[in-house]
Amino acid sequence: MTRKRSLTGIKPTGTPHLGNIIGAIKPALELSQTFDTNYFIADAHALTTVTDPDELRQHTFEVAATWLALGLDPETSVFYRQSDITEDFELAWIFNCLTPKGLMNRAHAYKGFVDAAKEAGSKEPDAQVNMGLFSYPVLMAADIILYSADVVPVGQDQKQHVEIARDIAVKFNNLYGDILTVPEPLIEKEVATLPGLDHRKMSKSYNNTISLFVSDDELHKQIKKFTTDSVEPGETRDPKDVPIFKLIEAIANEEVTGQVANNLREGNIRWGDIKELLFEQIKETFGPAREKYVELQNDRSYVDEVLVQGALRAQNQAKPLMEQVRKAVGLR
Ligand code: TRP
Repeated sequence: MTRKRSLTGIKPTGTPHLGNIIGAIKPALELSQTFDTNYFIADAHALTTVTDPDELRQHTFEVAATWLALGLDPETSVFYRQSDITEDFELAWIFNCLTPKGLMNRAHAYKGFVDAAKEAGSKEPDAQVNMGLFSYPVLMAADIILYSADVVPVGQDQKQHVEIARDIAVKFNNLYGDILTVPEPLIEKEVATLPGLDHRKMSKSYNNTISLFVSDDELHKQIKKFTTDSVEPGETRDPKDVPIFKLIEAIANEEVTGQVANNLREGNIRWGDIKELLFEQIKETFGPAREKYVELQNDRSYVDEVLVQGALRAQNQAKPLMEQVRKAVGLR
Protein backbone atom coordinates (compact mmCIF):
# COMPACT_ATOMS: atom_id res chain seq x y z
CA MET A 1 0.00 0.00 0.00
CA THR A 2 1.38 3.40 -0.83
CA ARG A 3 1.68 5.76 2.04
CA LYS A 4 0.46 9.31 2.07
CA ARG A 5 3.00 12.08 1.74
CA SER A 6 3.50 14.60 4.49
CA LEU A 7 5.49 17.78 3.91
CA THR A 8 7.13 20.04 6.49
CA GLY A 9 8.69 23.43 5.72
CA ILE A 10 11.15 24.98 8.14
CA LYS A 11 12.01 28.65 7.93
CA PRO A 12 15.71 29.26 8.74
CA THR A 13 15.40 32.31 10.93
CA GLY A 14 17.56 31.30 13.88
CA THR A 15 19.17 28.40 15.71
CA PRO A 16 16.43 26.12 17.01
CA HIS A 17 16.30 26.02 20.83
CA LEU A 18 15.02 23.45 23.29
CA GLY A 19 11.44 24.74 22.98
CA ASN A 20 11.48 24.32 19.16
CA ILE A 21 13.07 20.90 19.47
CA ILE A 22 10.56 19.46 21.92
CA GLY A 23 7.51 21.33 20.64
CA ALA A 24 8.01 21.04 16.89
CA ILE A 25 11.05 19.16 15.59
CA LYS A 26 10.65 15.89 17.48
CA PRO A 27 6.92 15.54 16.75
CA ALA A 28 7.57 16.34 13.07
CA LEU A 29 10.27 13.67 12.86
CA GLU A 30 7.90 11.09 14.29
CA LEU A 31 5.67 11.53 11.25
CA SER A 32 8.18 9.63 9.14
CA GLN A 33 6.90 6.44 10.76
CA THR A 34 3.44 6.96 9.29
CA PHE A 35 4.03 8.93 6.11
CA ASP A 36 6.42 9.36 3.24
CA THR A 37 8.03 12.60 4.28
CA ASN A 38 9.46 15.70 2.66
CA TYR A 39 11.30 18.13 4.93
CA PHE A 40 12.69 21.30 3.44
CA ILE A 41 14.41 24.47 4.53
CA ALA A 42 12.33 27.42 3.39
CA ASP A 43 15.27 29.70 2.62
CA ALA A 44 13.36 31.60 -0.07
CA HIS A 45 10.64 32.40 2.44
CA ALA A 46 13.28 33.65 4.87
CA LEU A 47 14.37 36.16 2.21
CA THR A 48 11.20 38.12 2.93
CA THR A 49 12.81 39.20 6.21
CA VAL A 50 16.53 38.30 6.18
CA THR A 51 18.67 40.60 4.03
CA ASP A 52 22.15 39.52 5.16
CA PRO A 53 23.42 36.67 2.93
CA ASP A 54 25.87 35.32 5.52
CA GLU A 55 23.11 35.25 8.10
CA LEU A 56 20.85 33.33 5.73
CA ARG A 57 23.58 30.79 4.93
CA GLN A 58 24.47 30.38 8.60
CA HIS A 59 20.87 29.85 9.68
CA THR A 60 20.29 27.43 6.85
CA PHE A 61 23.25 25.38 8.03
CA GLU A 62 22.18 25.50 11.67
CA VAL A 63 18.66 24.38 10.89
CA ALA A 64 19.83 21.58 8.59
CA ALA A 65 22.37 20.36 11.16
CA THR A 66 19.77 20.47 13.94
CA TRP A 67 17.33 18.28 12.04
CA LEU A 68 20.04 15.82 11.05
CA ALA A 69 21.44 15.70 14.59
CA LEU A 70 18.00 14.94 15.97
CA GLY A 71 17.59 11.97 13.70
CA LEU A 72 16.22 13.07 10.34
CA ASP A 73 17.23 10.25 8.02
CA PRO A 74 18.00 11.72 4.59
CA GLU A 75 17.69 8.25 3.04
CA THR A 76 14.11 7.61 4.09
CA SER A 77 12.96 11.24 3.96
CA VAL A 78 13.49 13.75 1.19
CA PHE A 79 15.43 16.64 2.77
CA TYR A 80 16.35 19.69 0.70
CA ARG A 81 16.64 23.44 0.35
CA GLN A 82 13.54 25.11 -1.08
CA SER A 83 15.60 27.36 -3.36
CA ASP A 84 17.33 24.42 -5.06
CA ILE A 85 14.09 23.47 -6.77
CA THR A 86 13.47 26.20 -9.33
CA GLU A 87 10.20 24.55 -10.37
CA ASP A 88 8.84 25.85 -7.07
CA PHE A 89 9.16 29.45 -8.22
CA GLU A 90 7.73 28.65 -11.61
CA LEU A 91 4.67 27.05 -10.05
CA ALA A 92 4.35 29.97 -7.63
CA TRP A 93 4.16 32.36 -10.60
CA ILE A 94 1.40 30.35 -12.22
CA PHE A 95 -0.44 30.32 -8.89
CA ASN A 96 0.07 34.08 -8.57
CA CYS A 97 -1.84 34.45 -11.80
CA LEU A 98 -4.90 32.70 -10.44
CA THR A 99 -4.91 33.93 -6.85
CA PRO A 100 -7.25 36.85 -6.09
CA LYS A 101 -5.47 39.72 -4.43
CA GLY A 102 -8.35 39.94 -1.96
CA LEU A 103 -7.48 36.48 -0.66
CA MET A 104 -3.96 37.68 0.13
CA ASN A 105 -5.31 40.81 1.86
CA ARG A 106 -6.90 38.48 4.38
CA ALA A 107 -3.82 36.33 5.06
CA HIS A 108 -2.84 36.55 8.73
CA ALA A 109 0.87 37.24 8.31
CA TYR A 110 0.25 40.22 6.04
CA LYS A 111 -2.76 41.47 7.97
CA GLY A 112 -0.88 41.25 11.26
CA PHE A 113 1.98 43.24 9.82
CA VAL A 114 -0.27 45.98 8.48
CA ASP A 115 -2.32 46.17 11.67
CA ALA A 116 0.84 46.56 13.74
CA ALA A 117 2.12 49.31 11.44
CA LYS A 118 -1.23 51.13 11.63
CA GLU A 119 -1.19 50.88 15.38
CA ALA A 120 2.28 52.37 15.40
CA GLY A 121 0.82 55.36 13.57
CA SER A 122 2.06 54.61 10.05
CA LYS A 123 0.11 56.51 7.38
CA GLU A 124 1.09 54.08 4.65
CA PRO A 125 1.65 50.68 6.27
CA ASP A 126 1.88 48.91 2.89
CA ALA A 127 5.08 50.79 2.13
CA GLN A 128 6.86 48.47 4.57
CA VAL A 129 5.48 45.26 3.05
CA ASN A 130 7.56 43.64 0.33
CA MET A 131 5.77 41.62 -2.34
CA GLY A 132 7.43 38.44 -1.08
CA LEU A 133 5.74 38.89 2.25
CA PHE A 134 2.43 39.79 0.62
CA SER A 135 2.39 36.69 -1.57
CA TYR A 136 4.02 34.42 1.03
CA PRO A 137 1.03 32.03 1.00
CA VAL A 138 1.27 31.61 -2.79
CA LEU A 139 4.86 30.39 -2.63
CA MET A 140 3.87 28.23 0.30
CA ALA A 141 1.08 26.71 -1.81
CA ALA A 142 3.63 25.90 -4.52
CA ASP A 143 5.97 24.35 -1.90
CA ILE A 144 3.22 21.96 -0.93
CA ILE A 145 1.46 21.22 -4.21
CA LEU A 146 4.63 20.71 -6.29
CA TYR A 147 5.26 17.46 -4.39
CA SER A 148 1.62 16.38 -4.35
CA ALA A 149 1.69 16.40 -0.55
CA ASP A 150 -1.45 14.91 1.01
CA VAL A 151 -0.97 16.37 4.47
CA VAL A 152 0.85 19.33 5.94
CA PRO A 153 1.40 19.19 9.70
CA VAL A 154 0.99 22.71 11.05
CA GLY A 155 0.24 24.57 14.24
CA GLN A 156 -2.73 26.91 14.42
CA ASP A 157 -0.65 29.80 13.09
CA GLN A 158 -0.06 28.17 9.71
CA LYS A 159 -3.47 26.58 9.23
CA GLN A 160 -4.84 29.43 7.15
CA HIS A 161 -1.88 29.16 4.78
CA VAL A 162 -2.69 25.52 4.09
CA GLU A 163 -6.31 26.45 3.50
CA ILE A 164 -5.18 29.02 0.95
CA ALA A 165 -3.13 26.27 -0.73
CA ARG A 166 -6.29 24.17 -0.90
CA ASP A 167 -8.24 27.03 -2.48
CA ILE A 168 -5.53 27.50 -5.07
CA ALA A 169 -5.36 23.78 -5.93
CA VAL A 170 -9.14 23.56 -6.28
CA LYS A 171 -9.27 26.63 -8.47
CA PHE A 172 -6.49 25.30 -10.70
CA ASN A 173 -8.20 21.93 -11.04
CA ASN A 174 -11.49 23.57 -11.95
CA LEU A 175 -9.82 25.61 -14.67
CA TYR A 176 -7.39 23.07 -16.10
CA GLY A 177 -8.48 19.57 -15.11
CA ASP A 178 -7.83 17.32 -12.17
CA ILE A 179 -4.06 17.60 -11.94
CA LEU A 180 -3.17 18.84 -8.47
CA THR A 181 -3.47 17.06 -5.13
CA VAL A 182 -5.53 19.16 -2.72
CA PRO A 183 -3.58 19.12 0.57
CA GLU A 184 -5.05 18.77 4.06
CA PRO A 185 -3.75 20.52 7.15
CA LEU A 186 -2.80 18.06 9.86
CA ILE A 187 -3.35 20.08 12.99
CA GLU A 188 -0.83 19.09 15.61
CA LYS A 189 -2.33 18.46 18.98
CA GLU A 190 -1.44 21.26 21.32
CA VAL A 191 2.00 20.35 22.60
CA ALA A 192 2.65 21.85 25.97
CA THR A 193 4.75 24.94 25.38
CA LEU A 194 7.93 24.93 27.42
CA PRO A 195 8.63 27.78 29.81
CA GLY A 196 11.80 29.75 29.17
CA LEU A 197 14.34 31.00 31.71
CA ASP A 198 11.99 33.78 32.85
CA HIS A 199 8.90 31.48 32.89
CA ARG A 200 7.30 33.04 29.82
CA LYS A 201 6.95 30.80 26.77
CA MET A 202 10.44 29.79 25.58
CA SER A 203 10.97 31.98 22.55
CA LYS A 204 13.78 33.63 20.68
CA SER A 205 11.94 36.95 20.86
CA TYR A 206 11.97 36.87 24.68
CA ASN A 207 15.64 35.99 24.81
CA ASN A 208 14.87 33.32 27.41
CA THR A 209 15.84 30.16 25.56
CA ILE A 210 18.01 27.16 26.34
CA SER A 211 20.31 26.24 23.44
CA LEU A 212 21.30 22.61 23.21
CA PHE A 213 24.13 22.81 20.76
CA VAL A 214 26.66 24.59 22.95
CA SER A 215 29.42 23.35 25.26
CA ASP A 216 28.52 21.69 28.56
CA ASP A 217 29.72 24.82 30.34
CA GLU A 218 27.45 27.04 28.31
CA LEU A 219 24.53 24.71 28.82
CA HIS A 220 25.13 24.67 32.57
CA LYS A 221 25.31 28.47 32.69
CA GLN A 222 22.00 28.82 30.86
CA ILE A 223 20.23 26.42 33.19
CA LYS A 224 21.56 28.21 36.26
CA LYS A 225 19.86 31.37 35.01
CA PHE A 226 16.42 29.77 35.26
CA THR A 227 14.45 32.05 37.57
CA THR A 228 13.50 30.55 40.92
CA ASP A 229 12.07 32.08 44.07
CA SER A 230 12.89 31.53 47.72
CA VAL A 231 11.33 28.69 49.62
CA GLU A 232 10.48 28.80 53.31
CA PRO A 233 11.73 25.79 55.31
CA GLY A 234 9.09 23.07 55.11
CA GLU A 235 7.17 24.82 52.34
CA THR A 236 5.56 22.47 49.82
CA ARG A 237 4.75 23.05 46.15
CA ASP A 238 2.33 21.58 43.68
CA PRO A 239 4.54 20.37 40.79
CA LYS A 240 2.12 21.69 38.20
CA ASP A 241 2.72 25.24 39.46
CA VAL A 242 6.49 24.94 39.25
CA PRO A 243 7.92 26.14 35.92
CA ILE A 244 11.20 24.26 36.07
CA PHE A 245 9.26 21.06 36.69
CA LYS A 246 7.76 21.39 33.20
CA LEU A 247 11.25 21.08 31.77
CA ILE A 248 12.05 18.07 33.95
CA GLU A 249 8.81 16.47 32.84
CA ALA A 250 9.55 17.07 29.16
CA ILE A 251 13.07 15.69 29.32
CA ALA A 252 13.63 13.25 32.18
CA ASN A 253 12.37 9.67 32.42
CA GLU A 254 9.34 8.79 34.50
CA GLU A 255 11.31 7.72 37.53
CA VAL A 256 13.28 10.94 37.83
CA THR A 257 10.18 13.02 37.10
CA GLY A 258 8.25 11.19 39.81
CA GLN A 259 11.02 11.72 42.29
CA VAL A 260 11.19 15.47 41.68
CA ALA A 261 7.39 15.70 41.93
CA ASN A 262 7.49 13.92 45.28
CA ASN A 263 10.21 16.17 46.62
CA LEU A 264 8.21 19.26 45.68
CA ARG A 265 5.05 17.92 47.28
CA GLU A 266 6.87 16.90 50.44
CA GLY A 267 8.67 20.19 50.92
CA ASN A 268 12.09 18.82 50.15
CA ILE A 269 12.94 21.60 47.69
CA ARG A 270 16.37 22.74 46.60
CA TRP A 271 16.34 24.62 43.30
CA GLY A 272 20.08 24.18 42.86
CA ASP A 273 19.70 20.40 42.98
CA ILE A 274 16.81 20.45 40.52
CA LYS A 275 18.88 22.51 38.11
CA GLU A 276 21.79 20.07 38.36
CA LEU A 277 19.38 17.24 37.69
CA LEU A 278 17.96 19.05 34.68
CA PHE A 279 21.48 19.60 33.36
CA GLU A 280 22.30 15.91 33.74
CA GLN A 281 19.05 14.82 32.14
CA ILE A 282 19.49 17.10 29.14
CA LYS A 283 22.99 15.73 28.67
CA GLU A 284 21.68 12.18 28.87
CA THR A 285 18.63 12.62 26.64
CA PHE A 286 20.33 14.72 24.00
CA GLY A 287 23.88 13.36 24.32
CA PRO A 288 23.98 11.63 20.93
CA ALA A 289 22.29 14.59 19.18
CA ARG A 290 24.74 17.05 20.70
CA GLU A 291 27.71 14.92 19.63
CA LYS A 292 26.33 14.59 16.16
CA TYR A 293 25.84 18.35 15.89
CA VAL A 294 29.50 18.98 16.73
CA GLU A 295 30.48 16.43 14.07
CA LEU A 296 28.33 18.21 11.50
CA GLN A 297 29.76 21.58 12.49
CA ASN A 298 33.17 20.19 11.67
CA ASP A 299 32.00 18.80 8.36
CA ARG A 300 29.83 21.41 6.74
CA SER A 301 30.47 20.01 3.29
CA TYR A 302 28.72 16.81 4.37
CA VAL A 303 25.60 18.76 5.31
CA ASP A 304 25.77 20.55 2.01
CA GLU A 305 26.10 17.29 0.14
CA VAL A 306 23.07 15.85 1.94
CA LEU A 307 20.99 18.84 0.86
CA VAL A 308 22.26 18.63 -2.73
CA GLN A 309 21.40 14.94 -2.94
CA GLY A 310 18.01 15.65 -1.39
CA ALA A 311 17.40 18.36 -3.98
CA LEU A 312 18.01 15.85 -6.78
CA ARG A 313 15.36 13.60 -5.34
CA ALA A 314 12.97 16.49 -4.81
CA GLN A 315 13.51 17.57 -8.42
CA ASN A 316 12.59 14.10 -9.61
CA GLN A 317 9.38 14.37 -7.63
CA ALA A 318 8.63 17.82 -9.00
CA LYS A 319 9.48 17.56 -12.68
CA PRO A 320 6.67 15.30 -13.95
CA LEU A 321 4.00 17.39 -12.24
CA MET A 322 5.52 20.63 -13.48
CA GLU A 323 5.46 19.32 -17.04
CA GLN A 324 1.79 18.50 -16.71
CA VAL A 325 1.09 21.93 -15.27
CA ARG A 326 2.96 23.78 -18.03
CA LYS A 327 1.10 21.85 -20.67
CA ALA A 328 -2.25 22.35 -18.98
CA VAL A 329 -1.93 26.15 -18.83
CA GLY A 330 -0.58 26.48 -22.37
CA LEU A 331 3.08 27.16 -21.69
CA ARG A 332 5.72 25.11 -23.46
N1 TRP B 1 5.50 29.30 6.67
C1 TRP B 1 6.13 28.27 7.43
C2 TRP B 1 6.62 28.87 8.76
O1 TRP B 1 6.81 30.07 8.85
C3 TRP B 1 7.30 27.67 6.68
C4 TRP B 1 6.86 27.07 5.39
C5 TRP B 1 7.16 27.51 4.14
C6 TRP B 1 6.03 25.93 5.24
N2 TRP B 1 6.60 26.71 3.22
C7 TRP B 1 5.90 25.71 3.83
C8 TRP B 1 5.41 25.04 6.14
C9 TRP B 1 5.15 24.67 3.34
C10 TRP B 1 4.66 24.00 5.63
C11 TRP B 1 4.53 23.81 4.24
O2 TRP B 1 6.83 28.15 9.70
